[in-house]
Amino acid sequence: MASSAIHAAESFSNPNWINHSVAVESVQELALKKPNDIPQRYIRSEDERPSSTPLPSLLTVPVIDMEKLLLPSENHERKKEMGILSKACVEWGFFQVVNHGITHSLIDRMRGVANEFFSLSLEEKKKYAPHAGDVQGYGNVFVVDEDQKLDWGDLMALALKPKKLVNLALWPTTPSDYRNTLQNYTTGVERVAQMILSLFAENLQLKSDYFKENFGDPMMTVRMNLYPPCPRPDLVLGLSPHSDGGFITLLLQDEQIEGLQVHKNNKWIPIQPIPYALVVNIGDLIEVMTNGIYKSIEHQAVTNKERTRLSIAMFYYPALDDEVAPISNLVDEEKPSLYRKFKHQEYIQYYMNKQLNGKKSLASFAKIYE
Ligand code: OGA
Ligand code: NI
Repeated sequence: MASSAIHAAESFSNPNWINHSVAVESVQELALKKPNDIPQRYIRSEDERPSSTPLPSLLTVPVIDMEKLLLPSENHERKKEMGILSKACVEWGFFQVVNHGITHSLIDRMRGVANEFFSLSLEEKKKYAPHAGDVQGYGNVFVVDEDQKLDWGDLMALALKPKKLVNLALWPTTPSDYRNTLQNYTTGVERVAQMILSLFAENLQLKSDYFKENFGDPMMTVRMNLYPPCPRPDLVLGLSPHSDGGFITLLLQDEQIEGLQVHKNNKWIPIQPIPYALVVNIGDLIEVMTNGIYKSIEHQAVTNKERTRLSIAMFYYPALDDEVAPISNLVDEEKPSLYRKFKHQEYIQYYMNKQLNGKKSLASFAKIYE
């Protein structure tokens, strides 16, 4: 145990993930003061503010029943569900998964340990603040610019695998089952992530183990987001618009409180919580590999006036050494490569040194313009 902790601590300060990060106040502490006036740095320009008239939810993100996808491949129900999944990936870049096999008790406990950690004193939580140049820990890792608008939320970010990226010193020990629960939840989510990637491969007419065969040991990280109540949810954002940078993201939303919105037809569409469902979205790297057939869609989080909202996002990535490029079967004369080839690690470092800003990271990093 001791030696592996030392090993992890060494590798963790190397590479330097971010060149410059700005420490900001805990939003939880700020919210406790119940400020009459929201500090200027959180107030968004008018075009960025959440829409004040909630849309009638005519459009809803597709729901996929994983149990149906476990049926034999010739089964009619399965074929239909595969069609829904394919459409979701092409038209939404988002879907919710039910019957994924992660037990309700594990999900409840995962939310429990995340909440219990956030309710510790600020002093206690600060012991887990990121070291210079790193993105793991408690705080707000995406503040790279002194003038940047701030998100109304705190977070805890940790690398989960491979082992050389894991910094156990930043894994809380209070509550006492925090580490175990996170480990078990990681195993459950990874199983679902692999299944989803093999379903993608099947729908794209690739070998179903395509992603397993062609990439090294996957990297996985978690981001637990805590959005405290905000006296003026109409003026702020919990999380700035962005697309996620990996293969796919599997997010546990708050059970009761809506907050996640996806950009579709130029509108922000809320994703209604379904108990124990995982919200899955396509990351930038799947968009690159599918040559734009599957899209990584912009999303954001809004806040709530009365209640704290918790979400737990698990990001599934290729190995850092893997090369990423459009898959040759998905490129032809009619659909030439939209993206150049690059090394995963170069992209993730580029992504982390940018403010969350829609899909600009992917476009400026890898897009080939005609
Ligand atoms: C994320 C994310 C949305 C949410 O962490 O990347 O998009 O609802 N979170 O917290
Ligand atoms: Ni996201």
